[in-house]
Amino acid sequence: MKKTVLVTGACINTGVAIVERFASEGWNVIFTGRNKEKVAVAEKAYREKFLGVQIEGYAINSLHDERTVDEESIDQLFAELDKKGIFVECLVLNAADQGLNMKIFENPLTDFMRVVNTNVTWNYAFVERAARRMKEKGGGSVVFINSNTAYRAIPDRIAYEASKGGQLGLMRGLALDLGKYNIRVNAVLPGMIKTDRWVTNPDFYKEVPCRYTPLGDVAVGADVADAVWYFAAHARNTTGAELVVDGGNTIQMYPIIPKEE
Ligand SMILES: NC(=O)c1ccc[n+]([C@@H]2O[C@H](COP(=O)([O-])OP(=O)(O)OC[C@H]3O[C@@H](n4cnc5c(N)ncnc54)[C@H](OP(=O)(O)O)[C@@H]3O)[C@@H](O)[C@H]2O)c1
Repeated sequence: MKKTVLVTGACINTGVAIVERFASEGWNVIFTGRNKEKVAVAEKAYREKFLGVQIEGYAINSLHDERTVDEESIDQLFAELDKKGIFVECLVLNAADQGLNMKIFENPLTDFMRVVNTNVTWNYAFVERAARRMKEKGGGSVVFINSNTAYRAIPDRIAYEASKGGQLGLMRGLALDLGKYNIRVNAVLPGMIKTDRWVTNPDFYKEVPCRYTPLGDVAVGADVADAVWYFAAHARNTTGAELVVDGGNTIQMYPIIPKEE
């Protein structure tokens, strides 16, 4: 019987690469996005590309407001999957609030709460629902798409960095408490990924220092998807682990900037 992965935030960018990796390996896929129309477009595209697998999209938002996680939507989603007899063997928490341009003296506290609530609290609620079912079925795996900003800060992303750091603590706590149920919990830590923002804002990306990695390049979505696939399909004895996919960016004292020719 085919296995099923659930990938959050998978209408665009890295989430698409993760969906495509699992679908091309023959897994059925459940994915989420926030917008109904965007989800329908992505679902159609996936179904046309991967004929032999079942692919279903659900529109779901993380929060009612900055302070309140929408738990009911997660319950509804899992109730719907239960009704259809779909068991999620692997949960990939890819969706994130990027928390861009957060200035300590300018942004209200609710902006901070919005990012942390989405990236930590909402993800925790998602894992709780998935893990309850994995426990009943004898096991499963959870993969967080984290960030190397959990280790090293970049400007004006305070809430994001706090959320990704907190997410690593969450990942380890879950790994410890869920190990006895044969549920493995791990994290992939990308550095910069080439997304549509790379295309829409080329001037910014020409300037960013994390281009200057020891490997001389940044990740594409498929690099992140490879790491997720390793945790989901191969890492039988690995839990609570962090796999950094950043071209070596965070091991540097400072970036080695190539001289202009
Ligand atoms: N891009 C990078 O350079 C980079 C670097 C390091 C780590 N990462 C991590 O890698 C993952 C994917 O990054 P990405 O750049 O591909 O992401 P992205 O383009 O920003 O897309 C993220 C997805 O998250 C969903 N999302 C955003 N806010 C949400 C909310 N409040 N509730 C529910 N869903 C929400 C979006 O839904 P909609 O489709 O509805 O907008 C989108 O599908 C993230 O966890 C990110 O933190 C990215």
